[in-house]
Amino acid sequence: MEIDVFTLFPEWFQWFSAQRHVHNALVAGTSLQCVNFREHTELSGGQVDDTPFGGGAGMVLRVDVMDSALRAHYGIDPVRLREQRRVIALVPGGRTLDDRLVDELAAEPALTLLCGRYEGFDERIVEHFASDTISIGSYVLSGGELAAMVVCDTVLRKLPGALGDERSALEESFSPALGGDPEYPHYTRPAEYRGWHVPEVLLSGHHERIGAWRRERSRERGEHRDGARSR
Ligand code: ADE
Repeated sequence: MEIDVFTLFPEWFQWFSAQRHVHNALVAGTSLQCVNFREHTELSGGQVDDTPFGGGAGMVLRVDVMDSALRAHYGIDPVRLREQRRVIALVPGGRTLDDRLVDELAAEPALTLLCGRYEGFDERIVEHFASDTISIGSYVLSGGELAAMVVCDTVLRKLPGALGDERSALEESFSPALGGDPEYPHYTRPAEYRGWHVPEVLLSGHHERIGAWRRERSRERGEHRDGARSR
């Protein structure tokens, strides 16, 4: 898979790329490339944004700057780019990222992620260049970079070779193997700590009973998600 991230803060992704599972995916052939769209502005002082028409607070990323950056990187008119690959604008109001969308993205050969800043994108960027808008939740980040990292993290761990143990991705929260429910609880040594005991069944070595117990806990967690603990 090839992932290109258009951002004003490419250096943030250096740390991210060095994390074990990301690094593993990169070694296994995925590419994660950052393009600083400030390098593609023809405006003085590296200007990439401007005040909003109609007034209001904040600055808006300019469509001409994004056009130049995409055009320079891909060598085509960016209005045609989304015919070739998913071009994703990260915005608070986009389609919410979930496991199904992650699977969908992980099956793509190439992704382009556009990270907004300030008040966000001039809407013409979204309208004419993007194939998708994605949100990582109903809150506002200072920019799309953290959201892009969440997309990359969740997608890359689905690719072969990213995780140390391939089984980790099979039976994890929200996977089809668990019917879309959250994962069951895990325990490790010591079997008893401060009087808190590990459920007996997990120490039984009886794989069928363990499997049934885990599916049941998973299902319960799915049922009670709205009442998930908040402290
Ligand atoms: N940019 C700002 N907030 C965001 C969010 N919640 N998800 C995706 N991109 C964003």
